[in-house]
Amino acid sequence: MQELSVRHLLGIKDITVQDIRLIFETADNFKDVLNRPIKKVPSLRDITIANVFFENSTRTRLSFELAEKRLSADVVNFSSSGSSVKKGETLLDTVNNILAMKVDMVVIRHSSPGAPHFLSRHINANIINAGDGTHEHPTQALLDAFSIREKYGEVAGKKIVIIGDILHSRVALSNIFALQKLGAEVMVCGPVTLLPRYIKDLGVKVETDVRKALAWCDVANVLRIQLERQQMKYFPSLREYSLYYGIDKRMLDSLDKEITVMHPGPINRGVELSSDAADSHHSIILNQVENGVAIRMAVLYLLAARQ
Ligand code: CP
Repeated sequence: MQELSVRHLLGIKDITVQDIRLIFETADNFKDVLNRPIKKVPSLRDITIANVFFENSTRTRLSFELAEKRLSADVVNFSSSGSSVKKGETLLDTVNNILAMKVDMVVIRHSSPGAPHFLSRHINANIINAGDGTHEHPTQALLDAFSIREKYGEVAGKKIVIIGDILHSRVALSNIFALQKLGAEVMVCGPVTLLPRYIKDLGVKVETDVRKALAWCDVANVLRIQLERQQMKYFPSLREYSLYYGIDKRMLDSLDKEITVMHPGPINRGVELSSDAADSHHSIILNQVENGVAIRMAVLYLLAARQ
């Protein structure tokens, strides 16, 4: 059996293109399973997984839990709200207490960049990063690239623009790493205040005019403005942001080619994306969500083999 080169999935930066291809091939098989009347396989029977979420989540948390249950793992869920974190318990103490209950794998979301990396150095369980602050969101990038591969047959050679709040986005960074490893051309687009100064060093194109970005690309991955991470005002108002960077169906229909619209969610409808664009034939947003379960099944299954 082929194996991943890593014991933990901490970020796309740390994995190889062979790892990504293995995850995709495994996810293809699990997607077939998910389309059967009986959607469950016994692959992770006797494995216990803790989903440890210190930040809000809808898609990632439900998707991991569903993936774990489809693989017949035992699942426990921890949310920092309502927990003893509120009484001053540290991250390491919290996770060590969960592990004392004989947990094999930990899926963690945390607002601090590096929290999953810290855990991986201190505890003896497989760690999966479900989003660490503004750093990485590896399973989101994998499901995004998998959805592009599903739509076009391959990712190599495709022109993909990531539009919006690049400065605060872990989805942007993980997508850049994944798409470049798979041979895509990547552009980022947004107001200069929301583009990190180091971004050109990553080998991406940079554009501030959203119309030029849409005319260039095959795929537009649209991100929300992460107001909860912004310590200062980066643009005058959401209304003004929407005026210059919001994408609607009329803009998409006016292009001289068909492009695909993606969004990792949650969407702020009417800000970065209008409802008529989000719900149009251009959009594969719900395919991304569907593919998230198969991708997470593949990651869990392959990491369990590395125990
Ligand atoms: N895409 C994503 O991470 O969504 P959630 O915050 O709802 O998990």
